[in-house]
Amino acid sequence: MNIKPIITLCLIALMTSACGVKETATMPLIKGETFADDEGNHINAHGGMIMEKDGTYYWYGENRPDSTPGNRQLGVACYTSTDLRNWKNRGIVLPTNETEGDLLEKGCIVERPKVVFCPATGKYVMWFHHELKGLGYGAAHAAVATADNPLGPFELIRSARVNQGVAPMNIDPDNLELDWPDLDWWTPDWRNAVEMGMMTGRDLEDGQMSRDMTIFVDDDGKAYHVYSSEENLTLHIAELDSTYTNHTGRYVRLFPGGHNEAPAMFKHDGTYWMITSGCTGWAPNEARLMRADSIFGPWEQLPNPCRGEKSELTYLGQSTYVMNLDGNYTFMADIWNPKNLADSRHLWLPVRFDENGTPFIESPYDTNKQ
Ligand code: DGJ
Repeated sequence: MNIKPIITLCLIALMTSACGVKETATMPLIKGETFADDEGNHINAHGGMIMEKDGTYYWYGENRPDSTPGNRQLGVACYTSTDLRNWKNRGIVLPTNETEGDLLEKGCIVERPKVVFCPATGKYVMWFHHELKGLGYGAAHAAVATADNPLGPFELIRSARVNQGVAPMNIDPDNLELDWPDLDWWTPDWRNAVEMGMMTGRDLEDGQMSRDMTIFVDDDGKAYHVYSSEENLTLHIAELDSTYTNHTGRYVRLFPGGHNEAPAMFKHDGTYWMITSGCTGWAPNEARLMRADSIFGPWEQLPNPCRGEKSELTYLGQSTYVMNLDGNYTFMADIWNPKNLADSRHLWLPVRFDENGTPFIESPYDTNKQ
């Protein structure tokens, strides 16, 4: 056996650690198997994301109850890691509570939390989709909380609809003033009215609905809130101010009537990309891919970025985040288990780029791939 290459590798490894060169963490491949934390429990952080700060990775997500009747959501969970493989349970960083009438009273719904560090304030800012206790998915609020420490506790600042009284930048103002007739849902006239902005006009005074969402921070430090609005029919992209806690009122509508949920945005070589899902509750559907040269569009829709077995169902998952690790991108998705949401599984798959620079994902179920 030629042992020269092995000795060379060992020497390089020794020199690297002796010089104190930081080893780069890489994203593991996760294909829906259980993923245990430091206590041996499946990681209960769903619809989430990973934020890096000072060499530590923070995985935030929905803590979901198991199938025990009467179990309620505890809030937003956080796990930390330095290698993206071994995760320590850091508990609930945004808790729900037992206080009657409180916005975060147990029984409320907390979904798709996203946390970013705000350089202007030095605070960690968490946005999430928030539904009020007893109202199902009717409130359609975006909530924002801040903390001085990435491990929290995060304090709620606001839970509300968004961009109250402000019209999107890419709508004909006349459409907002139209007196829309009472149209039956899903008819061609209704679809046309939705496209023109019927829902935006309806919600102008009280603020726009905000359900599935993400936060995207651009290279220039500007942050944007991307959310499913208008009864989940239309996506909005809304600019946040320098504190990342308020909307500036500059926002656009995307794909009116397109029925997009679960937005996950990333930027590669100057192009903005977004992966979304359709709207089928907890059931998986086919992912969508969108691109734009400018954050406010125009956005163009491209074919499903998933390839191979079960690509028509996003490998049974639904997008939550695209993690950018030094220019390597990972598609993060949830395989929901509505009978036991705590046991929903994680899918972390590499995003690759084809010869035209278009992102794609390969099936974890194709045995000859990955
Ligand atoms: C789909 C959304 O993407 C999820 O976050 C969750 O809200 C489910 N719908 C609830 O049915």
